[in-house]
Amino acid sequence: MVNYLFILGHKSHFGELMKYVIVYWSRYGNGKKIVDYLAKKLNEKSAETQIFKTDEADPAIMPGADLYVFSAPTEAFNIQKNMRKFMKNLQGMEEKKYGIINTHCMNKNWLQKMENLLSKKKMIKVAGVDFQIGKDAKTGNGLMEGWEAKLDEFVGKI
Ligand SMILES: Cc1cc2nc3c(=O)[nH]c(=O)nc-3n(C[C@H](O)[C@H](O)[C@H](O)COP(=O)(O)O)c2cc1C
Repeated sequence: MVNYLFILGHKSHFGELMKYVIVYWSRYGNGKKIVDYLAKKLNEKSAETQIFKTDEADPAIMPGADLYVFSAPTEAFNIQKNMRKFMKNLQGMEEKKYGIINTHCMNKNWLQKMENLLSKKKMIKVAGVDFQIGKDAKTGNGLMEGWEAKLDEFVGKI
């Protein structure tokens, strides 16, 4: 797989660089750390990556991309509300591919909720990954050991 990517580069169907748009929301910075690492890794694959916090993009007029990544924490037993609203307001995303990332403190992830919202938009899921955040959540340093490797695996799928 590595050699294959090496030979072909990370190209879309049209032979151009893969373009990723990442939309995230993060309160304490744990999720921000994840999307920054993700963008760095994607760019190393020589892809083109844009990152937006939910209030920096308009869900009704999303920039074009080969794959969209949405990243948000669980808050109050749901996907954090800015992200929920963003997903509900997405337009023109039918048949577009996506990956999802959820951070949470309790022993349950909320990827399914994200998937439900995006399948209402007729988007196509490619991969999902969740991260349990430890007791240092509020310092932004709550990611558990091994999070980079877990994210590398996700990068390999998208
Ligand atoms: C108001 C609030 C409510 C939360 N509710 C939940 C919850 O219901 N379940 C859970 O697993 N984590 C919950 N958390 C923990 C967050 O998921 C955690 O702080 C977040 O994943 C950290 O990521 P961030 O730094 O990117 O915001 C809550 C956090 C806050 C601040």
